[in-house]
Amino acid sequence: MAGVAAPLLQARGLTKNFGAIAATDAVDLDLNSGDSVGLIGPNGAGKSTLLALLAGDHRPSAGALTLDGTDITRLPVHARVRSGVARAAQIPQSFDRLTVRENALLPALFGAGLGRSEAEGWIAEVLALVGLTERAGMLAGALGLLDRKRLELAKAVAARPRVLLLDEIAAGLTEPEIEAIMELVLSLREGRAIVWVEHIPFALRGTCDRLMVMDKGAKTHDGAFAEVWENPELQSIYMGVSDDHSASH
Ligand SMILES: Nc1ncnc2c1ncn2[C@@H]1O[C@H](COP(=O)(O)OP(=O)(O)O)[C@@H](O)[C@H]1O
Ligand SMILES: [Mg+2]
Repeated sequence: MAGVAAPLLQARGLTKNFGAIAATDAVDLDLNSGDSVGLIGPNGAGKSTLLALLAGDHRPSAGALTLDGTDITRLPVHARVRSGVARAAQIPQSFDRLTVRENALLPALFGAGLGRSEAEGWIAEVLALVGLTERAGMLAGALGLLDRKRLELAKAVAARPRVLLLDEIAAGLTEPEIEAIMELVLSLREGRAIVWVEHIPFALRGTCDRLMVMDKGAKTHDGAFAEVWENPELQSIYMGVSDDHSASH
C-alpha cells in the first residue's frame, strides 16, 4: 500500500471488562515513531489496564490492535516484545532468583534479539543508565522497591522496543532521580513511540509532546501537551495532578 503509512501502533475500540467494570472502554489510540505521550487520569481511570492491553498482558474483551498494520490483538507478551512493544509495569515483575544482570539480559537476548556478547555490552549500558551497575550481581528478590522499579525500566529498555510503555516508573523517586529518568526517556525518544503514565507533571511536561487523559476507562483528551494541559475541563476530571511534586495526594 504505497503512500498509505499505517501508524506504528493503532488501537481501535480497546475494551477490557473485569466483571461489571469496564477498566478500559472503547479506547482508540494512534502512535507513530517519535511520539511521546504523557498519560494521566485519576486512580482507577484505566491507565495501567490500557498499557497492559498494549503490551499483551491482558486480552481485550473487545477491540483490535495493529503494529505496522499487522493485527497483533492475540499475540502473547513474548511475541509482542519480539515485535517491538515493551512495558515497564507499575508493579515490578522480575525473576527474584535471577540476578539483576540476568533479568535484564533476557529481554536483550529474546526481545532485542541480540547475540550473547552484544547483549552483555548493551545491558551494561542500560544498567548504568538506570543506576543499577553496582547491584548487577545481586538477586532481584533482594532489591528494595526503588531498585526493583529501576530494574523494571531496565528490562523494558533492554528489549530495544519501538513502542515503550512506562507505568509510574518515577513514583517515589527523589527529584534528582526523576531528572535522571527524564534524561533517559528523552534519550529514548528517537525512532520509537513512548507512552508514560506518571502523576508528576514536570516529568511529563519535560519529556512529552502529547498529553492523553483517561477517566473511568475512556479517553477524554488527546492532543498537544500544552493545549490539553490548559484545558479547563481537566481540573474537574483530574484532581490528582499538582504542580507541586512534594504535595501529598
Ligand atoms: N486484574 C484486575 N481485576 C479486576 N479489576 C481490575 C484489575 N485491574 C484493574 N482493575 C480495575 O480496573 C479499573 C482500572 O484500573 P487501572 O487500570 O489499574 O487504573 P489506573 O492505572 O488508571 O489507576 C479499576 O477500577 C480497577 O480496580
Ligand atoms: Mg495504574
